[in-house]
Amino acid sequence: MSVASLACGIASGATAKIAPEDILKGAIEVFPFGILIVQPGGQIIFASSELERMFGYARDELVGQTVDVLVPTNLRVQHAEHRRNFAVHPEMRKANSRNLSGRRKDGSELQVEIGLNPIQAGDGALVLAVISDISDRTRIESLKDEFVATVSHELRTPLTSIAGALGLLIGHAGGNLPGPAVRLLTIAHANSQRLVRLVNNILDMEKIESGKVVFVLKRVEVRALVTQAIESNRGFAEEYGVRIKLDAASTSGDIRADSDWLTQIVTNLLSNAIKFSPRGEEVVVAIKTQGDKVLISVRDHGHGVPDEFKPRIFEKFAQADNSDARQQGGTGLGLSIVKQIAERLGGTVRFDDAPGGGAIFSVEIPGWQQGRAALNSPVVPEHEPEVLR
Ligand SMILES: Nc1ncnc2c1ncn2[C@@H]1O[C@H](COP(=O)(O)OP(=O)(O)O)[C@@H](O)[C@H]1O
Ligand SMILES: [Mg+2]
Repeated sequence: MSVASLACGIASGATAKIAPEDILKGAIEVFPFGILIVQPGGQIIFASSELERMFGYARDELVGQTVDVLVPTNLRVQHAEHRRNFAVHPEMRKANSRNLSGRRKDGSELQVEIGLNPIQAGDGALVLAVISDISDRTRIESLKDEFVATVSHELRTPLTSIAGALGLLIGHAGGNLPGPAVRLLTIAHANSQRLVRLVNNILDMEKIESGKVVFVLKRVEVRALVTQAIESNRGFAEEYGVRIKLDAASTSGDIRADSDWLTQIVTNLLSNAIKFSPRGEEVVVAIKTQGDKVLISVRDHGHGVPDEFKPRIFEKFAQADNSDARQQGGTGLGLSIVKQIAERLGGTVRFDDAPGGGAIFSVEIPGWQQGRAALNSPVVPEHEPEVLR
């Protein structure tokens, strides 16, 4: 609704008529974001009260000054460049980055999010900037990241050693144990492994999101990698009474990928397929070559993905809304990790309802040759891995 029609709406129901300008002025003064109007050369011609509060200046101190006073000294050259670019391509845009900083009157910095909109005025184009102070959000996010990273690291080391020791005890490394003791140790072992998986998921997510992941891209033979991932998940499948099979028609082929992270993708898909399969069922993994792409799919015979959950399935911490105990064992991070890694490798991930029930999750990864082109890789000798940060 335009301000004018809003004013008419109010006017028709109320006795007094309110001018649209008054509504706009009133709104700008209580708007919880700072508003700034700047000339193409950078001179400030308007600053709202929230902007005064955010940057610690009185309006009169700002009007007539260049916008540089609100920019940290070391970023001013860069900012002038942005301004020139905006003058060339004046279009509505939103800048949202943890690294976007502003400078208060007292010299301290604040983190900001900025929306820019060009407006035409009599004497040329002006820039309308709406600025939000996101310092608190940025600080809380980095505290959270740090906390998650520390806790996960501190948990993973002792947990891995507990799981390892329990495995050895079950394997009678400590001598023969009575049957009931072995049964209890088996439960403890399975649960400690589950905790290791959860912590690993949280750590992976944190690593990916903080941009700390390094992909070492090499020529990978996909069939060997998938076979290895299946072998590593057999124990987990047995706990659920599920068999994993590699479809006999599977092709082999070379792709350009990071084998550890690709194994992580297959493992996450397998763990879901296994977890959501009824006992006695089979999970089928297939590899197909499609042009210069390789498609790895994992099919199960479980209850499938509920329709209402489909749009959210790749979101972080998303789990379908039901009381399935199998789901409660997870974090809702597995598929989000799959998606992020697949995309970083130049691929895609999708899922479909399987004919006859169950779900099929597939990842498509560029083949060796296409991968080189898609990832814009310099031509490196085949034996030399390429590092993608
Ligand atoms: N093969 C599958 N069949 C049915 N639902 C699935 C399947 N894979 C994933 N889902 C749904 O997607 C949710 C998110 O999966 P994921 O991100 O791996 O998290 P988690 O396994 O930790 O719950 C699951 O909790 C489940 O609701
Ligand atoms: Mg999962």
